[in-house]
Amino acid sequence: MQRFEAYLLANLPKAPSFHPTFDEALSAMLAAGGKRFRPRLLLAVVDAYAPLLREGAYPVAMALEMFHTYSLIHDDLPVMDDADLRRGEPTLHRRFDEVTAVLVGDALNTHAFYLIATAPLHSDAKAALVETLAYNGGIGGMVLGQAIDCHFEGVKLTPEQVDFLHEYKTGRLIAASLKMGAIIASLDGAMQKRLYDFGLDVGLLFQIQDDIIDATRSEADAGKTTGNDEAKNSYVNHFGLEGSMERADALARKVEMEMADFDEALRERLAILLEGYLYRHR
Ligand code: IPE
Ligand code: IPE
Ligand code: MG
Ligand code: MG
Ligand code: MG
Repeated sequence: MQRFEAYLLANLPKAPSFHPTFDEALSAMLAAGGKRFRPRLLLAVVDAYAPLLREGAYPVAMALEMFHTYSLIHDDLPVMDDADLRRGEPTLHRRFDEVTAVLVGDALNTHAFYLIATAPLHSDAKAALVETLAYNGGIGGMVLGQAIDCHFEGVKLTPEQVDFLHEYKTGRLIAASLKMGAIIASLDGAMQKRLYDFGLDVGLLFQIQDDIIDATRSEADAGKTTGNDEAKNSYVNHFGLEGSMERADALARKVEMEMADFDEALRERLAILLEGYLYRHR
């Protein structure tokens, strides 16, 4: 993983021009860190089934992190969650300005697809990777989830709608990360679907935990604005802190059981990666 982090930092996007700050703003939030959860999921699958393709997978892993970082930059804007802190630093619109944050988000979104298109992989694989990220990051996932999240602030959704919201805004990009690893490793359609479905559970768990973090952690601890979900259809607002913890426990146990059925090479890698996440809400 340190190798991927080094790759990412050595390959930050650049947009040199006479604009005084755009180039710096473009890479600031990527360089600020983060858990790199989505690229790590992708690389776990590639390492398990096609380790020789690891280097070829790096630009795609980077594309995922870039796309996710775009979603965070836009999520923090005043028109969305209006947050001041992200990855331990002032949010991009605070450090620079709103126009810059909107356009850096746009640039990270489009450049993610540039990275996939130019990766040293087979063209068929690249087309499937573009399809998967575009759909699950867009109207088949994150974008629609964010639209629902923001539109229904202050309006109580049904429990089924809350699950829909969380699956779309967070679960589907995480599921896509595993599927994209499977595409790079040329795994068959059945295995791609199995990993995607497993990823939906991991992703839902991840967002329930994120809602618990919002309610229970300090900004300094989380490295981002917390206590910010008051008007949101968060799990905590719907099911309470204890109810959310119990849902997270149940999902974590389900994920552990699903993981136990994977091939040894994958199971080992996922176990190492997920170890710190399954019960992070406790
Ligand atoms: C935060 O994502 C937003 C969610 C989708 C829950 P992460 O928790 O992965 O944030 P970073 O990448 O570590 O900063
Ligand atoms: C955002 O969810 C999910 C995204 C698609 C970016 P949150 O709004 O809960 O994420 P945080 O808590 O600000 O990281
Ligand atoms: Mg949000
Ligand atoms: Mg937010
Ligand atoms: Mg949150």
